Order: sequence, then structure tokens, then C-alpha cells
Amino acid sequence: MAKTLNFAVVGLGMGGHHCKALKNAKGAHLAAVCDIDEDRLAQRMKEFDCKGYTRYADVLKDKSIDAVCIVVESGYHAKLGIQAAKAGKHIIMEKPIDITPAKIKPLEEAVKAAGVKCGCIFQYRMDNCNILIKKAIDSGKMGKLIGAHAHLPWWRGDDYFAGPHGPWRATWKIDGGGSMMNQGIHTVDLIQWLAGPVESVFGFYGVHNHKIQAEDQVVAVLKFKNGALGTFYSTTCTIPEGAQRVYMYGTKGSFSRYGNTLETYAMDTAAQRERMMNLFGGSAKASSGASKDPMAISADGHQLIIEDLVKAVYANREPIIPISSAKHAVEIACAIYKSAQTHREVKVSEVAV
Ligand SMILES: NC(=O)c1ccc[n+]([C@@H]2O[C@H](COP(=O)([O-])OP(=O)(O)OC[C@H]3O[C@@H](n4cnc5c(N)ncnc54)[C@H](O)[C@@H]3O)[C@@H](O)[C@H]2O)c1
Repeated sequence: MAKTLNFAVVGLGMGGHHCKALKNAKGAHLAAVCDIDEDRLAQRMKEFDCKGYTRYADVLKDKSIDAVCIVVESGYHAKLGIQAAKAGKHIIMEKPIDITPAKIKPLEEAVKAAGVKCGCIFQYRMDNCNILIKKAIDSGKMGKLIGAHAHLPWWRGDDYFAGPHGPWRATWKIDGGGSMMNQGIHTVDLIQWLAGPVESVFGFYGVHNHKIQAEDQVVAVLKFKNGALGTFYSTTCTIPEGAQRVYMYGTKGSFSRYGNTLETYAMDTAAQRERMMNLFGGSAKASSGASKDPMAISADGHQLIIEDLVKAVYANREPIIPISSAKHAVEIACAIYKSAQTHREVKVSEVAV
């Protein structure tokens, strides 16, 4: 029997990318789409030639559906995930898993109790350059890590926060924050994935150039558990927008990356340095496009995470990005917000549950 799973995509904004990824993913079949917005639903049913539901409860009752991609507003992720787990459905969970560690915990418990798999979307972890950098760091090629720095100077216009699907964005209640919890959470995850877990943080945030509730600019200092120090910056205010920048320094070497371009790779053997620069250096594209348009991302990383979930189900192993690994980014972001609100250094363990 072919090892396949039937998926339903729930939430059809960014969910459109999940549909595209599912159409190309080995072992996955897009069986249904679901949205309470009937216009969006009709459009995606036509585009992807599949059945549709306006009620999530009906997706969960459909015995032909094995797995759901949860792509609704961030603050509803855990609630829908718990319902899916209780219905015996496997889960692909968009980033962030949810907006606080307290909301993520019952999801993690429900997934474990139901024996289903939950693979989380952090597509930068599927990027070939990032994978090779991580391998080099983990095998000691950079020596002892000293510094890890990330900078995300993006732009979102007022239209992004308006319209029928705009008002949840950059609210504390449903988005869990703004430029850091929404756009920047990928970058928070990337630096902790490469550099290791964070011990404590000191942060500032504010609303600088939008009419929004939470924040459009965050600056933070990070102290990693391995002793390295770092900085994080995110904004949706930059004109013109720039690309993600990541720098890391160790006792034996360093690297820096701007968008998709590797600027320096100063570690490893001479042959490997040359190979890395040839593969990912100067001529590579600097920006993914997502720096000003959230829909301009590639669906390749989503496809790989979906294909991995299918394999994880059949091999009865953890998905490549399980909840236990994806939740640290939310813990770090919540610690930074708490630090800014309380004007003190906050240990990540204070917000983790
Ligand atoms: N991986 C990435 O790079 C990336 C990029 C953009 C957005 N996202 C994430 O995707 C999620 C969705 O973002 P978006 O920009 O598409 O938001 P959106 O508001 O445009 O879309 C969410 C959709 O979910 C629907 N929905 C809400 N509750 C529902 C329910 N109970 N049943 C069925 N449908 C329901 C809404 O009607 C809406 O159409 C967010 O968590 C966001 O962080 C990830």
C-alpha cells in the first residue's frame, strides 16, 4: 500500500501556500480546504479542485482526512490543534505554534495523549545553506560560539493591517505581538536553532510607524545558555525594506548571511569555504520578497515539512520540527516582551511552562 496521507488545509490566506505545497508533496494528497470566509473557500476549491468545508468540526468528522494543516490566525492555533489531535488527525502547524507557552502546553499534551504527529512550520530550517551552517557549528568548526546576531528590517504597509483579514494582526490577543511574534519569529527560531537555547533576555519595543496595538519595532539583547551573547532586531517599518541578516562569531571562525546570500563563511576547510561561497555567495538572491509581501515566500520549505510528516507517521518517529523544538522561539519572544514591560532582564524559564 502506498504510504500517503489525505490532508485538509484550514485557513485559506497563507493556507494557499499549503495547498500548493500539498499538490507537489510526495505522499500527500490535498483532499479538502476549509475556511469560514465563503469567498476564500470557493476560490481555493476551484483553484485546487477539491472539496470544501465552512465548518472545521465537519473536517474533523470526515474519516477520509488523515491530517490537517492549521493556517488560521496565530492565537487560534492551539485550540484547533487540540481539537484535531482529539479527533485523531495528524497536524502541520503554521508558525508560531501559538502565541504563549501557556497555550502551547495543552496542545503538546493533547498531541502526546492522542499519539498523533505534529510537524511545525519554520521553513528557514529547511534551507540548504542554513542546514550546512548548522552542521558546521554543531561539529565544532566555529569553535566555541561567542556571538549570535540577527536583524530583520522589513516593511508592512497599512493595507496589511486593514481589510477583512487585517484587524487581528499586531494585536496582543490574537497575534501575540507584532513584528517579532509574527514576522520575526522565523528569525528568533533561526538564531536559537543555530546558536542554541537562550537563557535570558533584555528587550525594548514600541509602535513607531503604524496605527497598531502591539509593536512594529523590537530590540533585544540575548544571553545564550552556552555563554554566547547576541542581539535581535525586528521591525515592519523600514523604507525601503531590507532582508534578514544573521551574523555569528566563534573562537575559530564566523559567518554572515544577508537574505539568501552568504556574505562570509570563515570557518571549516579551505575547500568547504570555497564550496559554500560558490553555492550561496555573491550572485545569490539577497531577499526572499517576503520582506515587503508576506505572500512572496516559496512553498518549498512547507513541502519538505509536509513530506517529512508523512514519513514520520509511517515510521512512527518525531517530525523534523516537533512542538518540543518549535516552542522555544515563542518562549524567547514572550520573555523579550515581558522584559520590555517590566524593564528588567527576564530569564526564559520565567515564561516557559
Ligand atoms: N510560514 C510563513 O512564512 C507564514 C507567512 C504568513 C503567515 N503565516 C502564518 O499563517 C497563519 C495565517 O496567516 P494569514 O496571513 O493567512 O492570516 P489570514 O487572516 O489572512 O487567514 C486566516 C484564515 O483563517 C480563517 N479561519 C479562522 N478561523 C477559522 C476556523 N475556525 N475555521 C476555518 N477557517 C478559519 C479566516 O477566515 C482566514 O481566512 C498565521 O499564524 C501566520 O503567522 C506563516
